[in-house]
Amino acid sequence: MASQKKQCILVTGGAGFIGTHTVLQLLREYYRVYIIDNLHNSVPEAVERVKVLAGPALSANLHFHVGDLRNKDDLEKVFTQARFDAVIHFAGLKAVGESVEKPFFYYDNNIVGTLNLFELMTKYDCKKMVFSSSATVYGQPKKIPCVEDFQLQAMNPYGRTKLFLEEIARDIQKGDPKWRIVLLRYFNPVGAHESGQIGEDPKGIPNNLMPYIQQVAVGRLPELNVFGNDYPTKDGTAIRDYIHVMDLADGHVAALQKLFNTENIGLSLSLSLSLSIFEAIKCSSKLTKPVFGLCCIAYNLGTGHGASVLDMVAGFEKASGKKIPIKFCPRRQGDATAVYASTEKAQKELGWKARYGIDEMCRDQWNWASKNPWGYHSQHP
Ligand code: NAD
Ligand code: WQD
Repeated sequence: MASQKKQCILVTGGAGFIGTHTVLQLLREYYRVYIIDNLHNSVPEAVERVKVLAGPALSANLHFHVGDLRNKDDLEKVFTQARFDAVIHFAGLKAVGESVEKPFFYYDNNIVGTLNLFELMTKYDCKKMVFSSSATVYGQPKKIPCVEDFQLQAMNPYGRTKLFLEEIARDIQKGDPKWRIVLLRYFNPVGAHESGQIGEDPKGIPNNLMPYIQQVAVGRLPELNVFGNDYPTKDGTAIRDYIHVMDLADGHVAALQKLFNTENIGLSLSLSLSLSIFEAIKCSSKLTKPVFGLCCIAYNLGTGHGASVLDMVAGFEKASGKKIPIKFCPRRQGDATAVYASTEKAQKELGWKARYGIDEMCRDQWNWASKNPWGYHSQHP
């Protein structure tokens, strides 16, 4: 086992929804993993369950620290525990409505927390990051599918934190070309691990569609309010690109591999440069993109397929065998008609493609919901 051990990764926000699923995949790929999370939107039980799913041998490679990115001492404590080869940075607040009400809280948590992280990474010479960005940076796209080089636009303070952090990452990389940063723009993450042991557990009444449907299905909420049935779409409801969280987790493993492989290609290129200028020029002309192109680069993580609100309701009814009562309501302010990803770049450059469709997303989310009607709590929290 020891000989299979790979690099050491710091995962911020690793106790959260996407974090737990990604940490599990990292452990299965033999990475050593340190989590820092302040448990603002998560519970230690989630990390315990990841350990059980990984099994005793692999979970020995997982270390969990409760700490806040806004507190440099908390970060410093973690950075003195291990030498990190890369950071996957999930930690952040993500509720759009809350960000409108509490912009300072969002800018402080997401921006200051990330600046502290960049500072500590610089201090400890760890200059590889995979950053959780979001399809929200496309705002109300003029065209679909969304392509990575579209003009970016934010619609609310949460979206602006993602947009600003993308810009900050690009500037940091320009200032020091040693940095390698992958910005992953997730579309609409849903589903859960197939075991039903880990999944999304939002506090309070959910804002997002699938957690809301899930709570209706288990009887925690009476009906789903469908925001708008007058959109110019096949059934009048809005279209999004829902993606299974396990596909997303695999996308992070692919992004890490890209970061580490690019370094190897860079190394062998400089070796060949010192061996033969002619050979090196030949080699670099073939490798221009992977070697010099990967500095701070964005990829969409979506399926490339749009599904309507009613498609997701039907999918969940099929998976759960339960009727989801719905009520049509006016459109939600700021919602786009249709958003879905172009997945070509991630396929070509990361070698990653989503494997799961709506049936699997709803099956796994229902498995998690039916086994854990109160999320990680045994009863009404
Ligand atoms: P989540 O809330 O489940 O996980 C985020 C974790 O970060 C939580 O465990 C929280 O306690 C922790 N955290 C927050 N602020 C922190 C801080 N200052 N210090 C330490 N820990 C902190 O959310 P998620 O759905 O897993 O999202 C992960 C990331 O992906 C977020 O950055 C989010 O903005 C982004 N994202 C999420 C979605 C989505 O719909 N879930 C879509 C696009 C992008
Ligand atoms: C999907 C569709 C709603 C709830 C948000 C963030 C985005 C990203 C993903 C983090 C829309 C409709 C919803 C409900 C409904 N998060 N809906 N009834 O708005 O695409 O994206 O989450 O980065 O930044 O904005 O996702 O799940 O909220 O909504 O009818 O109770 O479901 O109107 O059409 P959205 P969502």
